[in-house]
Amino acid sequence: MDYKELAEKAIKAKSKALPPYSNFHVGAALLTENEKIYLGGNIENSSYSLTVCAERVAVFKAISEGERKFKAIAIASDDTGFCPPCGACRQVLQDLCGSDIDVIMVNQKKELKILKLSELLPLPFGDDKLKKL
Ligand code: THU
Repeated sequence: MDYKELAEKAIKAKSKALPPYSNFHVGAALLTENEKIYLGGNIENSSYSLTVCAERVAVFKAISEGERKFKAIAIASDDTGFCPPCGACRQVLQDLCGSDIDVIMVNQKKELKILKLSELLPLPFGDDKLKKL
């Protein structure tokens, strides 16, 4: 799948987000190795810290459907600029999708900024540390 198309899916996913407190809509589209797409929008909670970001919604939907291998995730937001994934989402992407995944950010002009997760999260913590115990 072309990354411009994946970015369009992230923009569409944004419309299903539920952010009544921040009113900041984020959409994510996660592409699996077999070219399936899982969408997510951020879901906020009145107990604010229970909010789940769009990226994690998409990843958990895919994992819970049995997907394990991923190529890319596209992220769109209400900001005019690019919306990079938050620190918590970077760690979840690292653990569940791997550092080689492409992270595609799309701005409101529909321009793309593409980085490897390894560029966004250098020196990651991972399960290699835990397996030594
Ligand atoms: N948010 C995301 O969904 N993804 C990000 O990468 C950054 C932040 C959400 C969380 C919260 O609902 C709103 O944006 C404001 O922080």
